[in-house]
Amino acid sequence: MKNISLNIDKVLGTVSKEQIYALETQINESNTLLEDGTGEGNDFLGWLHLPSSITEEQLADIEYTANSLRAKCEVIVVIGIGGSYLGTKAVVEALSNSFDWLQADRKNPVILYAGHNIGEDYLYELTEYLKGKQFGLINISKSGTTTEPAIAFRLLKKQLEESVGKEGAKQRIVAVTDASKGALRKLADQEGYKTFIIPDNVGGRFSVLTPVGLLPIAIAGINIRDLVAGAVSMEKTTGIDVPMSKNISALYAATRNALYQNGKKIEILANFHPKLHYIGEWWKQLFGESEGKEHKGIFNASVDFTTDLHSMGQWIQEGERTIFETVISVEKPDHSLVIPTDEANLDGLNFLAGKRVDEVNKMAELGTQLAHVDGEVPNIKISIPEVSAYYIGQLFYFFERACGLSGYVLGVNPFNQPGVEAYKKNMFALLNKPGYEKESQAIKSRL
Ligand code: PA5
Repeated sequence: MKNISLNIDKVLGTVSKEQIYALETQINESNTLLEDGTGEGNDFLGWLHLPSSITEEQLADIEYTANSLRAKCEVIVVIGIGGSYLGTKAVVEALSNSFDWLQADRKNPVILYAGHNIGEDYLYELTEYLKGKQFGLINISKSGTTTEPAIAFRLLKKQLEESVGKEGAKQRIVAVTDASKGALRKLADQEGYKTFIIPDNVGGRFSVLTPVGLLPIAIAGINIRDLVAGAVSMEKTTGIDVPMSKNISALYAATRNALYQNGKKIEILANFHPKLHYIGEWWKQLFGESEGKEHKGIFNASVDFTTDLHSMGQWIQEGERTIFETVISVEKPDHSLVIPTDEANLDGLNFLAGKRVDEVNKMAELGTQLAHVDGEVPNIKISIPEVSAYYIGQLFYFFERACGLSGYVLGVNPFNQPGVEAYKKNMFALLNKPGYEKESQAIKSRL
């Protein structure tokens, strides 16, 4: 089995190998902090050896529940925000046929999402779509108190109970939450829902390989054992005993820190495979929430190429030179499609006739890399042999490990997210939530 790989050759015009390897001691120290659990945020290191500790019993329980929901439901709504849905959406979009949900004879339930916004129109349209459909709900919230999913669940639970009765709803609702604390745990125990536990020591953005991700991914008909196997293999090849020259998580973490120290403050994750769009969204949460604190940290952006070459491409080529690019490059597409000859050749494309679409895409990728490097945008390349559950599992763990290391090298606690609370406090004060009386008065005087 091949592995995903990393190529940093095209950053070397901006930072030298010496500058990158000057960080090796810090990387090793950070690795020790992770392994020994002696760094900041050490109560959230459950993800570190999570892949290799998932048991057959846990996988079988997830698959059993997934199959029973698949048998009952044509639509599953995954309710969650941030780490409680992004990993699922990344895998489901990458590995499902893009048009499957439009087919009447599809094999898998349609997976929809709610609780990741407070859009009234979105929620209204969702409830309208669900009318008359056999649907189920997976309510995912570690804290159980997050406003967005709580509102969505309240609405959808009511709709489901009205449609199939309280008993029927109970068979179609699963809660994924804390083992003992929180509002969702209390509700699930009270109502008798099937539950799965998010371990205490795994933060939301590191939770895709817990039931948070594995349950809905299994419902979508994707092989979660392959996903986990990929992550297990990466856990081994990025371990503390693997030197930086051979350890892609360590090398990526060191390279991005060296670039940051050289004024490259923005990292753009690019793909040339549109089905990887949500991998970029998942990655932004992982790194953005882990590193953006104490007025430090690389700003994470993501783009889909070649689509965004026709929008952000101009900025990337000629805008402020504070960016670097990390490209996820897929070696082999799943399917083959050849460009046909056209007798009239009015579009002048006959020079491409007989070539595969992917050959054109690959040349676009190469041409873009060279253009951006010429434009002083250093380029890191992550190659994945193909878009499969195994390699996405590898990619998840590769990024998670790199994120832990990179955050420690930067000098922040990569495992908390204190800044996320600020908007919530203001929102609760503005909505007169009980207990927020003082904040309410203070905030209203500022309006
Ligand atoms: O990374 C995190 O912990 C957060 O972004 C959470 O994923 C997000 O806020 C959702 O939290 P919860 O699962 O508690 O509803």
